[in-house]
Amino acid sequence: MLELTVQIIANERDTDSYFRLVVRAPQIAPLIQPGQFAHVRILPMKDALLRRPFSIFQATADTFSILYKTVGKGTEVLARMRAGDELSVIAPLGHGFTVPPAGGETPLLVAGGYGMAAMFLLAQRSPQKGIVFVGGRRRVDILCEREFAAIGWEVRSATEDGSHGEQGLVTAPLTRELQKRLPGRKIFACGPTPMLKAVGRLADEFALPAELSMDEHMCCGVGTCLACVIPVQSGAGWEYQRTCTEGPVFDSRQIVWEVVK
Ligand SMILES: Cc1cc2nc3c(=O)[nH]c(=O)nc-3n(C[C@H](O)[C@H](O)[C@H](O)COP(=O)(O)OP(=O)(O)OC[C@H]3O[C@@H](n4cnc5c(N)ncnc54)[C@H](O)[C@@H]3O)c2cc1C
Ligand code: FES
Repeated sequence: MLELTVQIIANERDTDSYFRLVVRAPQIAPLIQPGQFAHVRILPMKDALLRRPFSIFQATADTFSILYKTVGKGTEVLARMRAGDELSVIAPLGHGFTVPPAGGETPLLVAGGYGMAAMFLLAQRSPQKGIVFVGGRRRVDILCEREFAAIGWEVRSATEDGSHGEQGLVTAPLTRELQKRLPGRKIFACGPTPMLKAVGRLADEFALPAELSMDEHMCCGVGTCLACVIPVQSGAGWEYQRTCTEGPVFDSRQIVWEVVK
């Protein structure tokens, strides 16, 4: 993990309120594992000391990118930054996904909205291709379909308003796929907590392993403030673990869903 000031190479709108931002970071990029995140200090926000966490979307030998949605003050300032501007980043952070080994389980990826950002590197690095289930409220929330297809993944999309793919929640096509009860499958997911909860329940019902990226609100991002904890099984009981260091990716069987807010 390194803390560096990096230069923006590109920061372009994807769809609607989603942007792709690429930075040059040759010291960080080779260290990145799928599911890890960068903690970004948006330098033009002089009054804001808090960093913002973003999954690492793509990485090359000397660059990495994030795919972000503008939701508030920080991301709106970020969207106005240009190539040549600088950001402070701490990265790569967190415990990411286990890349499926060649000949291992077939991965089923499930992503809701910007959760897609955490999944692309996993798909790219996985020798085993599978299916990616993409969900969102509207057409504009469905990201990266073509990129997944281009690297050999089957894509199934669902939108709540029916403007793209099938109408409804992404868990509907996932459930139909699981009902085939094909052997040797593993679920990986990132998205809003209700979606992750539903995916965790499906993994239990179909007795499948699942790794879920739990994106809690974060402050320090490096394990000291305890702002980001979730309840995780431990021995006969449970304990709080930090999503920024022990996570954000957890085995769904370890998460104590009754206590998750
Ligand atoms: C590990 C991790 C990975 C993430 N990856 C991505 C990503 O790849 N792309 C992306 O667009 N966003 C991602 N997020 C969420 C992102 O960090 C927040 O959207 C961002 O910090 C909001 O900053 P802001 O100043 O614009 O919003 P603020 O003004 O701080 O808040 C505006 C709204 O956003 C909500 N918000 C703030 N932080 C979070 C959060 N952590 N999760 C959900 N909602 C939040 C607030 O509750 C509020 O409603 C990730 C979060 C975590 C913890
Ligand atoms: S954000 Fe501070 S401990 Fe996780």
